[in-house]
Amino acid sequence: MILETERLALREMSVDDLPALKRILQDAETMVAYEGPFSDTEVDAWLERMLERYHSDGFALWAVELRETGDMIGQCGLTWQTIGDERVIEVGYLFERAHWHRGYATEAARGCRDYAFSRLHVDQVYAKVRDTNIASMNVAIRLGMTVRTRFITRYRGVDMPHLAFAVDAPRAAASTSPT
Ligand SMILES: CC(C)(COP(=O)(O)OP(=O)(O)OC[C@H]1O[C@@H](n2cnc3c(N)ncnc32)[C@H](O)[C@@H]1OP(=O)(O)O)[C@@H](O)C(=O)NCCC(=O)NCCS
Repeated sequence: MILETERLALREMSVDDLPALKRILQDAETMVAYEGPFSDTEVDAWLERMLERYHSDGFALWAVELRETGDMIGQCGLTWQTIGDERVIEVGYLFERAHWHRGYATEAARGCRDYAFSRLHVDQVYAKVRDTNIASMNVAIRLGMTVRTRFITRYRGVDMPHLAFAVDAPRAAASTSPT
């Protein structure tokens, strides 16, 4: 177990999670910001990349389970990303559509944000959001994030304008505020 929140538990994913992963990554509406649903091969590669990151970095997107039922309803976690010349820690979140609009993504992402501050000791946590993805921006805003910069990412052959949201660690924010 990586972390628990009031309603959710986050843990590493495994091949046993492929059916739940496919319900997320192969749903056309969920994957709009990623230019469409993934093929089986793309889902396998996605999971493989997360398993490699657990090994190399100690973190990646984790499975989000409902504590009440043990069902996997989403993915949320931390990854290294490059924005401009900077290497930053990003919180990512993708949930099964049947479980949207209940505050689960925000709850899980808050847990990951706090994990990044308390366990990884980073000064900022970022969220890279495609400029059309309003639901994702709203999660970032609920985490206390503000827009820091914009940039373009080329993904699946498409140039995608993005916003980089970030929130400062409580101690970093405290040390820069006027006395
Ligand atoms: C991004 C994504 C996870 C956001 O999901 P979401 O359901 O909008 O966000 P949350 O789970 O935090 O739920 C917030 C909503 O639940 C409501 N809510 C209901 N009960 C709640 C509770 N107990 N606590 C908090 N919020 C609650 C909030 O009012 C809010 O309502 P809204 O949807 O009308 O704004 C979802 O849209 C998704 O998976 N998208 C596809 C993948 C993706 O694009 N990921 C981001 C890549 S950058």
